[in-house]
Amino acid sequence: MASSIANMTYIIIGGASGMGLATVQTLLARGAQVAVCDISEKNLETLLGSLAPQNSTKCFARIVDVTDRSAIDSFFHAAEEHFGNLNGIANFAGTGGHGLGTEAVWQTTEEEYNFIMNLNVKGLFNVLSSGLDPGFLADRASVVHIGSIFSQKGFLNGAVFAASKHAALGMVRSAAKETEGRARVNCVLPGVIDTPMHRANLARVKNFTPTPATPIPRDGTAQEVANVVIFLLSEESSFVTGDAWNVDGGANA
Ligand SMILES: NC(=O)c1ccc[n+]([C@@H]2O[C@H](COP(=O)([O-])OP(=O)(O)OC[C@H]3O[C@@H](n4cnc5c(N)ncnc54)[C@H](O)[C@@H]3O)[C@@H](O)[C@H]2O)c1
Repeated sequence: MASSIANMTYIIIGGASGMGLATVQTLLARGAQVAVCDISEKNLETLLGSLAPQNSTKCFARIVDVTDRSAIDSFFHAAEEHFGNLNGIANFAGTGGHGLGTEAVWQTTEEEYNFIMNLNVKGLFNVLSSGLDPGFLADRASVVHIGSIFSQKGFLNGAVFAASKHAALGMVRSAAKETEGRARVNCVLPGVIDTPMHRANLARVKNFTPTPATPIPRDGTAQEVANVVIFLLSEESSFVTGDAWNVDGGANA
């Protein structure tokens, strides 16, 4: 069966690093077009510099902060104007905060609470409120949000992070019901994945081991998450919606 990804067009938010970057690169390699945004100008420049010449016209890139509702809405409409039909959205922009793994809930400042919730919950609200507006995406579109295995369980010294990921999963599941099948909405829940974000946590916290023993005893790769995200974006997953897909080496087994 030919891949249903070729010639499709997707918006990827937070697509200039880690799992988002692997998703952008794989979509382009499989013949899709991508509108990518990220808050990091440096990461976006690196991504654009790495594109094969035949892919440069297939990638529309802008610096956008997902927490800025009007900026996300403008970016989505610019992508629509640039490419026409849009077949789906994947949102990778998220944070563990500045004290993940080190601060109990009573040690977390209000400023930190607002930072995490604004990015991990309001960011998704901005994406869904513009992206699922009836008529914006093509028929049979798919939206994928990146949660965490901590969308479904507590994180020792990461209560606000876990709360934000639980909230986002609730929003995804509710949106799947509200769209009544005109668009599918799913969440991917990564375990420990080797990305710049994870490496920064390792550098910050001694013995950072959020999932101590997994049946597959290693960290996952960004590509392994991208593969599942792309499956959920594609028509191959046409009867899957409102779901949460673990990509965690069996951490939840
Ligand atoms: N790496 C892990 O082990 C792991 C595990 C579970 C869940 N996650 C989640 O996966 C997602 C992606 O993480 P990653 O590990 O690929 O991280 P990453 O830091 O490598 O990539 C995240 C990208 O999002 C961008 N971004 C951050 N804030 C933004 C904003 N306000 N607006 C737009 N873009 C923004 C960053 O610039 C970066 O390019 C996050 O939601 C993270 O919480 C990561």
